[in-house]
Amino acid sequence: MRLKDKVAIITGAAAGIGLTATEVFAREGAKVAMADYNVEQGVEQARVLREKGYEVTFFQVNVADRVSVDAMVEKVREVYGNIDILINNAGITRDAMLSKLTVEDFQQVIDVNLTGVFHCTQAVLPSMVEKGRGRIINTSSVSGIYGNVGQTNYAATKAGVVGMTKSWAKELGRKGINVNAVAPGFIETGMTAKVPEKVLNQMKQMVPLARLGKPEDIANAYLFLASEESNYVNGTVLHVDGGIIM
Ligand code: CAA
Ligand code: NAI
Repeated sequence: MRLKDKVAIITGAAAGIGLTATEVFAREGAKVAMADYNVEQGVEQARVLREKGYEVTFFQVNVADRVSVDAMVEKVREVYGNIDILINNAGITRDAMLSKLTVEDFQQVIDVNLTGVFHCTQAVLPSMVEKGRGRIINTSSVSGIYGNVGQTNYAATKAGVVGMTKSWAKELGRKGINVNAVAPGFIETGMTAKVPEKVLNQMKQMVPLARLGKPEDIANAYLFLASEESNYVNGTVLHVDGGIIM
């Protein structure tokens, strides 16, 4: 088992990549705090995973709200003790062409995808510093590296996540905390299900591996960066996109 008895918080764990990562981490022996905004789905998915024998618990959180994040981290520490791994996976899209993008939709995506990552990381920091080790894994995107039509707000956050990852890798390395990011390509989840079919077909044609990614493809990258196999990896952005960016 690659994560035996490690305590991991995975945000956005009620669906998509976060849900798959929860199962992959739990299978590797981690105790997983499934942190998500969606209570109904989160509780149900946690129940299903517990029935399979995994050590997971659902905690409601809105990553955009600092009070909510602090309360979630406190509850996780009460239940599982100090935190070893944080996967900043929660994210949203509000896609629109620049000419039509509202200020509200610009701001909402910043609040969740960028400020949310800051809130969660700052909130777990004392716990990791106390342990003298930790892993922080952020979720960027091909859109943040490469840009994307209709994603002014989203691309800004995902590029920002890369900047924060590298700053924290420099700042926290000497405290025993490795900070890295994964930059997924187009992955089959609820997020890409909203993309018009014509655009999705264009995307598939951009991928040298000639398919969309699966949540497992990203969960396995999170696993590598959370495990001891990546002890000397710090400040990197791991592209898991079938070769779109090279
Ligand atoms: N790449 C290339 N062309 C795109 C495009 C994209 N990502 N998105 C839209 N276009 C093109 C459309 O094909 C269309 O072309 P034509 O004029 O030749 O028909 C043109 O731009 C205008 O598009 P719409 O007619 O759809 O304009 P709209 O105002 O009704 O909608 C939109 C705009 C909301 C951006 C919609 O096109 C859309 O949802 N596009 C997809 C955006 C996208 O790629 N989102 C990624 C979501 S998945 C994700 O975010 C995960 C991740 O990290 C990668
Ligand atoms: P998804 O939409 O399937 O799941 C996202 C989860 O995050 C949901 O359970 C949702 O309830 C939760 N969430 C949303 N806002 C929240 C908030 N404020 N607080 C707490 N939880 C919240 O999305 P998916 O595809 O699994 O994406 C996961 C991450 O991967 C996101 O950061 C996304 O930007 C990123 N990503 C996804 C790609 C894709 O193609 N699906 C590509 C590149 C990056």
